[in-house]
Amino acid sequence: MHENPIDLYVFSGTGNTLLAACEVARYFCQQGIDIRLLRLEKADPAAIDPTRTLGLAFPVAVQSTYPFVWRFVEALPQVQGTGAFMLDTLAGYSGGLVGPMRKLLKSKGYTPMGACEIVMPANFMKVMKDEEKKRKRIAKGLKKARIFAHDLHYGLAKWREVPVLPNLMNRVSRSEKPWQSMRRKLALTIDTSRCIRCGLCYKLCPTDNIRMYEFPEMQDHCEICVRCINFCPVQAISTTLKSAPPYRAVKANDLLNPDPTGTTE
Ligand SMILES: Cc1cc2nc3c(=O)[nH]c(=O)nc-3n(C[C@H](O)[C@H](O)[C@H](O)COP(=O)(O)O)c2cc1C
Ligand code: SF4
Ligand code: SF4
Repeated sequence: MHENPIDLYVFSGTGNTLLAACEVARYFCQQGIDIRLLRLEKADPAAIDPTRTLGLAFPVAVQSTYPFVWRFVEALPQVQGTGAFMLDTLAGYSGGLVGPMRKLLKSKGYTPMGACEIVMPANFMKVMKDEEKKRKRIAKGLKKARIFAHDLHYGLAKWREVPVLPNLMNRVSRSEKPWQSMRRKLALTIDTSRCIRCGLCYKLCPTDNIRMYEFPEMQDHCEICVRCINFCPVQAISTTLKSAPPYRAVKANDLLNPDPTGTTE
């Protein structure tokens, strides 16, 4: 039975992953286990506490996850058998993530405890318009998150590793190419005639790609987490894609101050 304290590092672009991570955290809290929810994008990987179990939660992007998430895991120090688990949320398919993440953590000395992929509403391209369908999909996802937490607690969770194909897909996803091409295709722009200079996009950006001058300005290292686009209160940030209604599974403040007891849809 897992009783060790846990540090769960979470990144969530638009809230799906945060909801799932909070569900896991709530389960462990209810079992009396000390669990902290930490913002992955603000955490220093070199400063992790190796006496606490490591949890990672992040969204799937380009069938893998964001380069800054990989950089965080790559920068973790070597440990001696600390337990680790991961959960990701996705709209449909991730090919190059679960096995390669297990391999990387094992190479750092972690003991893989389990991985779980949770289907949630898409926050990009095919955003669901039907609120009822969206709500049902989230409820199903959160149920899966709770079962995963239970399985982790009782040592029943699995972390599959399929050989060859995921490693190849992972190599493609983790190269700079798909990200450069997405940056070019999406071309995020700020409409200064709409912008109210609230600074929220600047505060939320996980990669410090937004600088705040008189108006916010985009730099050149966006990783397309789509946070700024979806949380701008006046929809002043747009891309060259056909615009969809904003997708937000939580409030902006929940992303800045994750708290399992306070975060709800
Ligand atoms: C740039 C980008 C790429 C994505 N790529 C994938 C993908 O390859 N496969 C998939 O199933 N979902 C993909 N998604 C959908 C998200 O993984 C999914 O909606 C996730 O739950 C969002 O979580 P969040 O709200 O915590 O950011 C992508 C989303 C974005 C923004
Ligand atoms: S979040 Fe929107 S309104 Fe606020 S500073 Fe950014 S672009 Fe302007
Ligand atoms: S600029 Fe916007 S989409 Fe790009 S990484 Fe920052 S918050 Fe995410």
